[in-house]
Amino acid sequence: MAYILVKKEEQVTTLTFNRPEALNAINTEMLLELENVLDTIATDPNTRVVIVTGAGEKAFIAGADIKEMLPLSPEEAFKFSCYGQHVLQKLTDLPQPVIAAINGYALGGGCELALACDLRIASANAVFSQPEVSLGVIPGFGGTQRLTQLLGIAKAKELILTGKKITADEAYSLGLVHKVVAYGLAQSAAYEWAVNLANLAPFALTQAKQAINYNAQLLLEQGLQAEASYFSACFATADQKEGMESFLAKRKPVFTGK
Ligand code: CAA
Repeated sequence: MAYILVKKEEQVTTLTFNRPEALNAINTEMLLELENVLDTIATDPNTRVVIVTGAGEKAFIAGADIKEMLPLSPEEAFKFSCYGQHVLQKLTDLPQPVIAAINGYALGGGCELALACDLRIASANAVFSQPEVSLGVIPGFGGTQRLTQLLGIAKAKELILTGKKITADEAYSLGLVHKVVAYGLAQSAAYEWAVNLANLAPFALTQAKQAINYNAQLLLEQGLQAEASYFSACFATADQKEGMESFLAKRKPVFTGK
């Protein structure tokens, strides 16, 4: 695989998003790889816990690939959003517990991917944000739904409407992450947690996560459809092109409301 490293140790499978030159930004190829590897893991009796993390110490995942999204039409953006949602839902639906070891920037689609996991451990340098409005779009990989389910409407609106960045400690006080550890230790802390979980009854863990997810899932399915529609509608605007072009050109965007 070009973008995902897979390592298996003691019934713990670690997936590392490995595209450090773009801060591990998620492109379609990476989503395809992720879907394939998740399909394999779902039926692997020797994987009891899964860890996801980013390569390097700077980023977990800095979002969906802005270069890839820039030229999308609304129809293509709808497909991109639905596919990202579908693959992240597979992460949520894995029978095994999934721990996100968040080792740096978890922005946009990166934050959304972490939200699709069962447990989240952040290193002290981790930064969280749903910055999509600053690009002229909205979260499109489930963030409007999962962040709202996790934090409530008020906090989800604060984060998504302002697009502001928060620190690992702020994320911990909000309940967005379960634990904060020192710089560089997210993956080893996740592994320690994973080994403990791997010693518990796997069937019971699966039943527990399915039972907990059940309620949320009923609302999530409809919410994700709505999100993909609202996300793709942004791609008919000049502001989406301006937002993404200005990011890539490293300048401030000028939004006109068109
Ligand atoms: N997509 C594509 N490329 C990205 C990227 C992304 N999301 N994030 C970073 N990169 C690239 C940069 O373009 C840059 O590439 P070049 O070296 O070719 O210029 C490289 O990664 C390093 O990034 P910076 O030079 O910007 O590094 P920095 O340290 O100055 O800043 C950062 C780091 C604050 C994370 C900044 O890169 C940033 O703001 N990234 C974008 C974050 C973002 O907006 N994410 C949301 C995307 S939209 C989304 O995810 C929608 C959805 O829900 C599906």
